[in-house]
Amino acid sequence: MKTPPLNPALFHLDEAHLWLMHCAEGPVPRAGVRAVRAFMQKELQPWEMRWEEDFLGIPAAVRAEAAALVGGRSEDISLTPTTSSGLVTVAQGYPWHGGDEVLAPLGEFPSNAWPWLALRSRGVSFREVSLWEGHRAGAEAWASRPPTLEADPEGRLIAALGPRTCVLALSWVRFQDGLKLDLPRLSAACRERGVHLVVDGIQGAGTTPLDLEGLSAFATGGYKGLLAPEGMGFLWTGEAFRQSLSPSGSWLSVEEATDFSRPSTDFNRAWLTDGRALEPGGPNLLQASALLESLRLLNEAGVAAIAEHVAALQERLLEGLRGTRWSDEAERLLALLGAGRLGPILSFHHGGLGLEGLNQIMKSGYRRGLFTSVREGYLRVAFHGFHTEADADRAAAWLGTLSGTAS
Ligand SMILES: Cc1ncc(COP(=O)(O)O)c(C=O)c1O
Repeated sequence: MKTPPLNPALFHLDEAHLWLMHCAEGPVPRAGVRAVRAFMQKELQPWEMRWEEDFLGIPAAVRAEAAALVGGRSEDISLTPTTSSGLVTVAQGYPWHGGDEVLAPLGEFPSNAWPWLALRSRGVSFREVSLWEGHRAGAEAWASRPPTLEADPEGRLIAALGPRTCVLALSWVRFQDGLKLDLPRLSAACRERGVHLVVDGIQGAGTTPLDLEGLSAFATGGYKGLLAPEGMGFLWTGEAFRQSLSPSGSWLSVEEATDFSRPSTDFNRAWLTDGRALEPGGPNLLQASALLESLRLLNEAGVAAIAEHVAALQERLLEGLRGTRWSDEAERLLALLGAGRLGPILSFHHGGLGLEGLNQIMKSGYRRGLFTSVREGYLRVAFHGFHTEADADRAAAWLGTLSGTAS
């Protein structure tokens, strides 16, 4: 058996809980709990808090680890509470003109729809593009066909870029069908047309290697593949793009904000030019302490090694489903996997079972200690760097025994 890149012993995992749903909520490593506890101890005795080491040092360390994870520079990272807040910062800060358009794939997670829909009163429109033949979303989501290898989602998005399109906003890895979009191809096309590519990266961050080249912004929460508690993520922005955004206006987004030898009430200061200009104010040090530990673990293991491991487990599970009721789905997903079109989520299409049928299957898993999730027509099985080959075999054994309706 191959050793997983993240030692399972670093987490509080047990036989009764095979957690295959970091696409909903990732497990936090024990180190994160220790860090939060140590930080709370300082809160109990505030004289133990250090300005340089804690107030400034913890956020700076998180920015540095986040930058290492995405292959960027610390200066381009802003700590944000959530993916949504990162995208809202971009949406609210961008210098729009009436008539501008935001283009997005059909069926985005709402975090990447509402920030743009909220701009309607400023004359900005939001247009969705279906990504393959038979692709549906919204009220028709369960009637959608699943993506196949023949689909060319990037081609459709590129063809749909219009003269008023300023931003192409999309999920790197889609939350329901698990498809991973080709960011280098999209960013090249966007650059040629002067369009900004803004990415919701939460379903790929921590498990999938990233190329930031040509992106304008990349937002993620920390609580899925990044394995931190809810409440802190980050936003990466390209330098030139960031300078076009309005700063958040927090007291920490200006020069010398924490140099108390200068009166804080002296407002004659320049905005910072780095990512701190977009942060919401005093740092959430508790969350940052936990996120820091998770990012360190991920960087030590290496995202490339995690991605390779995840793909091997996915292949193992899908191979194990040949000859079962999931044969056709396994073939479809193997083809996508082989072409590098998947992130960490294997999304099994309901194929006529409907919500009730998929929920029954999911619950049959719960009874056997396997935790998966159902979203918009798909049963989602998500592997990470701490899963083992035995975990993949256990998932195959469970799914393989299921007939048309759940046992
Ligand atoms: C693609 C995608 N974006 C964003 C989110 C969550 O956003 P936030 O970090 O704002 O809670 C999810 C959660 O499921 C998601 O799947």
